[in-house]
Amino acid sequence: MPRILTGITPSGTLHIGNYFGAMRPAIELQAGGDAYYFIADYHSMTALTDAKERLAYTRGIALDWLACGLDPAKSVFWRQSDVPEVCELMWLIGSLTPMGLLERAHSYKDKTAKGISPNFGLFAYPVLMAADILLFDTNVVPVGKDQKQHLEMTRDIAIKFNQTYGDTFVVPEEKIAEDVAVIPGLDGQKMSKSYGNTVEIFGDEKALRKKIMGIVMDSRTPAEPKPDAEKNLAIQLLKHVAPADVSADLEARLRAGGLGYGDLKKALFEHYWNYFAPYRAKRAELAANFDYVDKVLRDGAERARAVATNVMSRARKNCGLR
Ligand code: TRP
Repeated sequence: MPRILTGITPSGTLHIGNYFGAMRPAIELQAGGDAYYFIADYHSMTALTDAKERLAYTRGIALDWLACGLDPAKSVFWRQSDVPEVCELMWLIGSLTPMGLLERAHSYKDKTAKGISPNFGLFAYPVLMAADILLFDTNVVPVGKDQKQHLEMTRDIAIKFNQTYGDTFVVPEEKIAEDVAVIPGLDGQKMSKSYGNTVEIFGDEKALRKKIMGIVMDSRTPAEPKPDAEKNLAIQLLKHVAPADVSADLEARLRAGGLGYGDLKKALFEHYWNYFAPYRAKRAELAANFDYVDKVLRDGAERARAVATNVMSRARKNCGLR
């Protein structure tokens, strides 16, 4: 069975774009593979320097993923910093990684172009990510297009290491999700935290209702037919959270004229709220029992570590280390 691995950066509250674009596909994969999912708290250190916040985000992500269906009986789920061997591996492979390769990294170039003053961690970010992948004999890494270059770098590094020190690492396959759903945000652009246009998966009902009711639409009257109904933002979002016949019916009514935007947005809110209701209940239950969540992460770390120790001793030996 191919080993699937992906990392989740703890950087804030998750929104429905994260859910449909990344979480749900990853959770679906756990049924058919040997799935390894971790919370990339080391990675968060290049940008976030508040210890309490890091811990809170890490816990929040653990709750979110477990509430949304990550099943610790099917997947190995752990916190990256519970398996610190990954930092040692970063050194072993970093010593073979050309500066030029890292200087060409888009994410690094984008961040420095935006005026962020880079630290060593940001520059080395792709090497740590390669270590994450290679430490677990990973076959497949399901990631979005934005991570494509990082995966190519991982492959380059693995191949170079194997050529230099003999066969050590599994060279992972790319599995770039080309067809993942891009969820529009409240302003019609792609939903993204950096655009401030998100609808959170979990949060306060009143505030979220207000967000959805606040979606700006055009000034056509309710009675007017809307031949472009399929382009309506609320309709597009409804297609993800409502049963197909319900969203088709609302779209038809909007197209024909007679359905007001206020009623449409109300329907969107209700379906969105109901869609996540079981996950919300599960999350509340888990949050009230954090010892269990901690135990899941600790057990996951133990299982992950068993694999990591094995790969690490192979790598050390091949390099002539102890
Ligand atoms: N860089 C990834 C992101 O920002 C997160 C990540 C860290 C990751 N390590 C990984 C993803 C290893 C896949 C494999 O989304």
